[in-house]
Amino acid sequence: MKLEIPVDSPQYQVLKRDIARFKRKSGSLIQVLHRAQEIFGYLPAEVQYFVAHELDVPVSQVYGVVTFYNFFRMEPVAKHVINVCMGTACHVKGAEGIVKAVSEELGIKVGETTKDKFFTLSTARCFGACGLAPVIMINEDVYGKLTPEKVKEVIREYRLEKEKEERGGAN
Ligand code: FES
Repeated sequence: MKLEIPVDSPQYQVLKRDIARFKRKSGSLIQVLHRAQEIFGYLPAEVQYFVAHELDVPVSQVYGVVTFYNFFRMEPVAKHVINVCMGTACHVKGAEGIVKAVSEELGIKVGETTKDKFFTLSTARCFGACGLAPVIMINEDVYGKLTPEKVKEVIREYRLEKEKEERGGAN
């Protein structure tokens, strides 16, 4: 189980910015881990190390919290985590319609995972790509200037990839 996401990826950038917001509050470790799980879909060792480093707490403390609470996961639930940006710029450019379109296309609500464990739908606040609003991230890939129709197309392309892989595997 490897994530292998570069630390300068949008996902880590979003997490880093949110950590800076939570940092001075008590109970921030649990809040930060919730955010990290929303962003990555789960909490692999490398994300735990990142959180420990950013919050300046021992990795053992982070690991202790992750393993204590059953709502934290160290294994991925879905192959792809779709994060729809709900930041101000994206909100103004129709983020609500994007969430609705994704939700309709996948038949799941925010926070849920498709039955085939291919997609999890999540939301985040600003990926720092406001010029491309409205924006989504699928794992570490950013898609911008979306419309409800375009976002459905993006999802269908992922599904096609999956079908191709499955057919390839069956040959
Ligand atoms: S508000 Fe969506 S990327 Fe900034």
